[in-house]
Amino acid sequence: MEPVSAAASKKELLDKKNAEAALGGGEKRINAQHAKGKLTARERIEILVDKGSFEEIGKFVMHRSKDFGLDKEHYLGDGVVTGYGKINGRLTYIFAQDFTVFGGSLSETHAEKIIRIMDLAMKNGAPVVGLNDSGGARIQEGVLSLAGYADIFYKNTLASGVIPQISAVMGPCAGGAVYSPAITDFILMVENTSYMFVTGPNVVKTVTHEDVTSEELGGAMTHAVKSGVTHFVSPNEVECILSIKKLLSYIPQNCEDIAPRYPYQESDETRPALAGLIPSNPNQPYDMREVISELADTESFFEVHTNFAENIVVGFARLAGRSIGIVANQPAVLAGVLDINASQKAARFVRFCDCFNVPLLVLEDVPGFLPGTDQEWNGIISNGAKLLYAFCEATVPRITVITRKAYGGAYDVMNSKHIGADMNYAWPTAEIAVMGASGAAEIIFKKEIAEAENPVEKLQEKVEEYTSKFANPYRAAHRGYIDEVIYPEQTREKLIRAFSMLENKVATLPKKKHGNIPL
Ligand code: HXC
Repeated sequence: MEPVSAAASKKELLDKKNAEAALGGGEKRINAQHAKGKLTARERIEILVDKGSFEEIGKFVMHRSKDFGLDKEHYLGDGVVTGYGKINGRLTYIFAQDFTVFGGSLSETHAEKIIRIMDLAMKNGAPVVGLNDSGGARIQEGVLSLAGYADIFYKNTLASGVIPQISAVMGPCAGGAVYSPAITDFILMVENTSYMFVTGPNVVKTVTHEDVTSEELGGAMTHAVKSGVTHFVSPNEVECILSIKKLLSYIPQNCEDIAPRYPYQESDETRPALAGLIPSNPNQPYDMREVISELADTESFFEVHTNFAENIVVGFARLAGRSIGIVANQPAVLAGVLDINASQKAARFVRFCDCFNVPLLVLEDVPGFLPGTDQEWNGIISNGAKLLYAFCEATVPRITVITRKAYGGAYDVMNSKHIGADMNYAWPTAEIAVMGASGAAEIIFKKEIAEAENPVEKLQEKVEEYTSKFANPYRAAHRGYIDEVIYPEQTREKLIRAFSMLENKVATLPKKKHGNIPL
C-alpha cells in the first residue's frame, strides 16, 4: 500500500487537473464570454441535463500541435466538453464547444472527441446534441483540422436517420463548419449572439461589393425567415436550451424506438369550437393554428420553422399522449398555397418524422401550387416533387383531414390516399376538384359563355353548376378516396381512434440501395 502522503498528493494532482479543466481558457476569457451575453460550455450543459447527470468523457485530452507556439499553450479538454447525461430522464450524448479555449476552434483532437461521442451515441441508440460556438478550423493545425471536420461530416451523415442529431448554434459558426449542423436534423440559433455563414461579411464585401453585417448575413432571424436554415430562434441561450429539451420530448431515442407516450385519460373528446372555424365565404382566410390547438392535447403543439414559409405550418404535438407530426396548409398566409419554400419545409419535416417513427397528421386547405415565373424559374417542379416524394416514401401512420380546399396537384401531394395515406377524412366544407370553380367554368364552358346573350350571367350559372357538382367531398367519398366525411367537432375523437388503430402499422418499401429524391 502507498504511504498516505503519496496517495494524498496523487488525489491533490487530480483535484488540480479537474479544477484546471473546469476553468477552460481561464477566468479572463470566461468573463469576456459572459460580457457578450453568452454562457460557457459547462454552464450550458448544466442547464441542458438533469441535475447531476452529466458524465464527462475526455476531460484531460490535449492537442498534439507544435506549430505557431501551440507547443507552449495547452488547455485540458482542447476546447470542447463532451460526454453523456440524462435529459428528461433519457440518455443523451452532448458536445459543447468552449469558446474560451482557442475560440472553440476545431483541432484534430477536438474533432476526435466529438466523433467519440457520436460513435457511442450510434452504438447505444441515443440522440446527440451539439452546442456549437467556434471560430472554425484551428488555423494553426491546417489540414488536420479540415480532416477533423470532414470526419465529423461523414459521421453526421452515417448517423442521419439512425439517431436524432440536434445542433444549437450559440456563437460563431463559419466556413465549412456550417455543414455539420446543416446535415443534422434540427438547428437552433440565439438572437444577436449566433451566426452562420459560409463566407463572412469581409469576403462578401470583396467579392460582391455588398455591405452587410454578420447579423444581417447570417444571424438567427436571417436564417429563420429568409434562408430557412434554422428551425428555431430563441431570444437568449437559456430559452434555446429549454427548446432543445422540449424538442427531445417529442422524439424517440433512435430509429427503432418510439417517442415517449404521455399519460392521458380519454374523456369527452368532442371539440365544439371546431364547428364554427371555417368561414362561410370560401375565400376568407382563417388561422389553421386554431384548428391545431383544438385537435391537439392542451398546449402540446410545438411549432418547427415558425418564421419560414408561413403558408405551411409544421410541428410536433400530442394526441391523447401520443407524439405526432403535423403538416398543415395555412390559409391565413398566401391562402395556404404551396410554393418552393413551403414544399421544402414540409418535405424535410415529413422525412424527419418518417425516419423516427412519428405518425403524421396532415390538415389540408390548399388552393394549389403558386403560379409565376419566379416559382417556375426557381424550380417549383423539382421542389414540389420533394414533398410529393417525401409523402410517397413515408411508412409511418399517415392521416389527412381536408378542412376546405384540396385543389389540383396539391390534392395529390398533400398526403392523399393515392400516395399511401392510411386514413383520409373531409369536413363537409371540403372542396376537392381539379381547380377552383370559376377557373374551371371559364375553361370548360368557354364557348358557351362567349356565345351567351349575357356572358357574365352565364359564367355565374356555370360556376354554380361546377360548385354544386365538384366543390364538395362527396365525389371523392363515393370513390373511397375519402374514408368518411366528418363533423369538425368529431375530428379529435376520430383521430385518436384512427391513430390508435394504426399503432402497429407495418409497411415496407421495395428493396433498393436508396431512392433518388429530387434534391
Ligand atoms: C485558432 C482561433 C480561431 C481559429 C479564434 N481563435 N478563431 N484560434 N483558430 N479558427 C482564437 C483567437 O486567436 C483568440 O485567441 C480567441 O480565439 C478568441 O478570438 P477573438 O477573435 O478574440 O474573438 P472574437 O472577437 O469574438 O471573434 C471571434 C471570431 C474571430 C469572429 C470567430 O476569432 C475569427 O474571425 N476567427 C477566425 C475565423 C476563421 O476564419 N476560421 C476559419 C474558418 S474556415 P486569444 O488567445 O487572443 O484569446 C473553416 C473551415 C472549415 O472553419 C472547413 C470545414 C470543411
